[in-house]
Formats: sequence, structure tokens, C-alpha cells
Amino acid sequence: MTLDIRPHGRVGAEILGVDLARIDSAALAQIRAAFAEYGVVFFRDQTIDEDDHIAFARALGPININRFFAAHPRYPEIALVLKEPDQRENIGGGWHTDHSYDAIPALGSVLVARELPPQGGSTGFASMYAAYDALPDGLRARIDGARAVHSARHVFGSRSRVYETVREAADDGRIGNAGAADVLVDVTHPVVITHPLSGKRALYVNPAFTTAIVGLEPDASQALLADLFAHGQDSRFNETFHWQPGSVALWDNRATWHYAHNDYHGHRREMHRITIEGEPLH
Ligand code: SIN
Repeated sequence: MTLDIRPHGRVGAEILGVDLARIDSAALAQIRAAFAEYGVVFFRDQTIDEDDHIAFARALGPININRFFAAHPRYPEIALVLKEPDQRENIGGGWHTDHSYDAIPALGSVLVARELPPQGGSTGFASMYAAYDALPDGLRARIDGARAVHSARHVFGSRSRVYETVREAADDGRIGNAGAADVLVDVTHPVVITHPLSGKRALYVNPAFTTAIVGLEPDASQALLADLFAHGQDSRFNETFHWQPGSVALWDNRATWHYAHNDYHGHRREMHRITIEGEPLH
């Protein structure tokens, strides 16, 4: 059966007519192709339980268990992205791409909405294919052949607790394992990658985890990153996804950034995330 795949504004595509709990190889092939092309795909009205969620993620690749997020009490493969009514800070509330601090960054994530606030709590997605394609000539010349440093220490390590955003989530146990982040060795990746599935070029730096440009003095490095981050956040390349009960998103960490909006204070939001292993980037 041919799936109904509809572009989702400036970023991503919505895939209709598929039940993720009963997926066959033909549907999976079409989902993979849309994922590679659009960078993020969305599904609505799904009734998948945790076992279905794990099975769908495994169909896409081996699961990469997140080291820093609290896990589901019965399913260690599932990371909890949670905010309680009395908490101020959310998880993922800034533009980022998951796991770029790993030598082999994760392919992507499958996020399932389990409990949503009455309004708000949407997620922004930005296309790094589009950001690359629209690079001004001057900026493109400055990153020709460049590599960037990516780190998790300032986000998940013990020194990150100076930031209010991290301290609350660390204190209440939504994130942890700071000792493991403290000893992580920073990695480098090309600033522009050739996407392993689509063959398209994508900008591969992100405001959360990219800390420097290799070979530049600190001031020049920060100035170049600031220009790249500002470019990546341009509204021409991003779109908001509004969650509903039964919504599922599958995003590609090599082709998109995402941003969880923190605009639903006093309400609970619980999302379940599974991250899938990737491959070296060139
Ligand atoms: C994340 O950053 O992985 C979570 C995104 C969200 O909760 O919308």
C-alpha cells in the first residue's frame, strides 16, 4: 500500500494511513524514505504501547540508551521527557540535536506523546538541509572544510548545575549521571556533513552541544558559531509541530534541530523517547 505523505509546512512530513503497531516492510520502506528526505516525519492517532514503541524503533535500527535522562521505570530503552505541574524548567528547551557529543551520533529519535498539557508544549523543528542550502556565500566560505567540537560536559556534567535550567532537572532526578558526562571526551564532526541516507548536504552544528570550531582562536570560533546558530534559527527553516493525543514524531538528528517549547506551566507533559544508533558522519 502506498502511504499518504504530506509535507508539513517548511519542515517535515505527516504520514497518514499507517498503524505503527502493525507495520509491514513495505510501509517501513516508505517511512525510511520520507525520513531521509524530510528530516522529520509525524504520525497522528496512534495507539501504541511501550512494547510497540520499542518494536518500531528497533525496526529502524539498534536502540541507543540515553545515559543522562531518567528512564521509564519498566523499560530502560525509553527515556522520559517529563515536566510536572510544579516544575519550571523543561527538558530540551533550546535548539539542539540529540547526541552530537558522541563520536557516532544517534540517527534519530522516536518521540511518543503520553500526556499533554491543555495547550502549549509544542516542538519546533528546523531543517539543516534548508539551512545549508541557504547559507550566504560569505558564511559558506568561512566553514569550507571546517570541523567543530561537540561536548556534553557543559550540559549534563556536574559543572552544568550552575545553570538554573539544568539544576532543577538534576535536583528532581529528570536528568542525572553527571559523573559520566564529566569524563566524556569531546569529539569533532564536520561542520557540513553529507547525509548518510539522502546524500544531501546538511549543516551539522547546534547551539546546545557544539562548543568550538577546530583551529580557530576562541573569539573567532565563538563569532563563527554565533553566526551559524543565528542562521540555523532563521524562521525560513523551521516549523512547529502541535502534539495531540496519539501523536508520534520520528526525527533525524543529522538533518534537523528541535526545540521543546516551555509554555505550559502548571500542567503535566510526559513524552517517551527512544533514540536509535547512527553511523560515523563525513
Ligand atoms: C527532546 O528534546 O528530545 C524532547 C522534545 C520534546 O519534548 O518536544
